[in-house]
Amino acid sequence: MRIQIINGPNINLLGKREPSIYGSVIFEEFLSDLRNEYADLQIDYFQSNVEGELINVIQNTGFDVDGIILNAAAYTHTSIAILDAIRSVAAPVIEVHISNVHARESFRHVSMIAAACKGVICGFGLDSYRLALEALLKIKSV
Ligand code: DQA
Repeated sequence: MRIQIINGPNINLLGKREPSIYGSVIFEEFLSDLRNEYADLQIDYFQSNVEGELINVIQNTGFDVDGIILNAAAYTHTSIAILDAIRSVAAPVIEVHISNVHARESFRHVSMIAAACKGVICGFGLDSYRLALEALLKIKSV
């Protein structure tokens, strides 16, 4: 099985960025643990601060992988282009957030992309990605 994780803007600063909200672990450390834990899966990773690059990777992987775990970060709340990209591909997409966006500012309560996603997981720190992976495994085993 092949899973694509895609992270949007500012997730590259995890560990340094607002640690009281996002924690102090860098994503690559978490990813290395996740890959060890799910050694039989191919887990590919891409991060960009550029909206179009996220769309390119959704398009370029979305017909080949078994699932996409997407933290579109702030683009979640603004991007119709990412919504359309998710709708365009075959792979199921799970929207994830590290923080509980519903417990934060009201502009974070709106997701432009959720309607195109299989489901949404937020608020569990980096474990949101692990829960999304488990959800994809369940979908694929049905
Ligand atoms: C985030 C939540 C977004 O509102 C925010 O813009 C982010 C990170 C999260 O993972 O909690 O950059 O997607």
